[in-house]
Amino acid sequence: MELSNFLGCLAVMAYTATLLPSILRIVFPRIQRYRTVIWLMRHRRLMGLFAFSAGLGHGLLMIMQRNLNLLRLETYFDYISGFLILLILAILSVTSPDWARRKLKSSWKKIHQLTYLLMLLIPGHILYTMSGDWSYMTHIELWSMGSVIVLFLRRKHIERRRSSIAKHLNASLPSPSLKTDKSNQPKVNNSDA
Ligand code: HEM
Repeated sequence: MELSNFLGCLAVMAYTATLLPSILRIVFPRIQRYRTVIWLMRHRRLMGLFAFSAGLGHGLLMIMQRNLNLLRLETYFDYISGFLILLILAILSVTSPDWARRKLKSSWKKIHQLTYLLMLLIPGHILYTMSGDWSYMTHIELWSMGSVIVLFLRRKHIERRRSSIAKHLNASLPSPSLKTDKSNQPKVNNSDA
């Protein structure tokens, strides 16, 4: 087993661990009480940093093993998925501390949406670079990524359904203006009093 490949595998596992708690909380609400899920939720930032460090180690070892010339533009085109994954993991790691969140305000959320782009880039990178020469690790990586993608789509479906139910309920409730509108209330005949 090559160390470089092992580090790539660790990076994928740590990345999936950052996504799983928030997905599982919605797809399987009962699971959120499990200790492992609580632990993962608390240590998401650390997992993200670990994914970046392992990915960086893997990338550097690959550059050395394959003698890649970083001064040639073609190198970046040939390994574009790897370099993009590394760049996104670096951006997410640098902007993960609380002070960065406070400073970036509303843009923080937009930047951190990049994590979902990794769901496509990582399997693409693995399929492209391994080109059918899979080891048992490759199977583990692709199965983990595939499961996370399926669960993520399920979460999006649940969230969309919930928001449409909420909209429907809001629309069917009488508006506050109707409640105070005197013209809609039955007239009281003072002579009956
Ligand atoms: C400088 C950036 C990168 C380069 C040049 C690069 C290059 C490569 C190459 C050449 C392979 C094929 C290895 C082989 O044939 O055995 C590979 C596989 C892989 N890469 Fe990268 N990579 C980069 C960044 C990343 C990052 C950041 C990740 C983190 C998710 C990653 C995850 C993987 C994984 C999981 C494999 C499959 C390993 C296996 O199944 O054995 N790579 N990469």
